[in-house]
Amino acid sequence: MDVIETIYKRRSIRKYLDKPVEKDAIITLLKAATAAPTAANCQPWEFIVINEVEKLTVLKEKLIFARYNAPVAIVVCGNMKLAFKGPGREMWVQDCSAAIENILIAATSIDLGTVWIGVHPIESNIKPLKKLLNIPDYVIPLGIVLVGHPAETKEARTRFNEKRVYWQEYEPDRKHRSKNKPILGHY
Ligand SMILES: Cc1cc2nc3c(=O)[nH]c(=O)nc-3n(C[C@H](O)[C@H](O)[C@H](O)COP(=O)(O)O)c2cc1C
Repeated sequence: MDVIETIYKRRSIRKYLDKPVEKDAIITLLKAATAAPTAANCQPWEFIVINEVEKLTVLKEKLIFARYNAPVAIVVCGNMKLAFKGPGREMWVQDCSAAIENILIAATSIDLGTVWIGVHPIESNIKPLKKLLNIPDYVIPLGIVLVGHPAETKEARTRFNEKRVYWQEYEPDRKHRSKNKPILGHY
């Protein structure tokens, strides 16, 4: 599959077939994840793969935001002992996000469906996940990628909008139609 076509085809899939994902396919996704760019080549990412029914059931019981019927969950974590030191520390989020996006695109290319479930920085998401998976203090779960064989189809698309693109410099006076109205007094 052409890469651009695959990127457009990647959509969040929230309905899955009752069919396991082969271990080889999971390894392919993890290889794609770890091919991502990473600040100063720190590679702060770690992955917890959950593909046993009992553990997945508990995960979905505890985390209401992860309640889709995917047979695999990949929890993508940043290990602060491996992260960039000093002011660049927060770059672990970008490193791990790049790894997640690689998983999503790689999965699409082998006809698997995925959805990215955000965890960090919402403390009420992080806490139960850390407890359930025995994650130590210095490791932060950034997100969960649910993976499975899709039971729904969505159209391929881009959301390219030239109004969101500036050339050479920003134009603060450009008018936007904003979906989210600014909170009064906030800006
Ligand atoms: C950081 C992040 C967190 C997300 N968290 C969730 C989530 O908790 N539950 C969910 O169903 N989808 C989640 N999504 C998926 C978005 O809802 C989805 O990407 C968006 O609606 C656009 O649809 P698309 O992925 O089909 O292009 C998340 C996506 C990102 C990037």
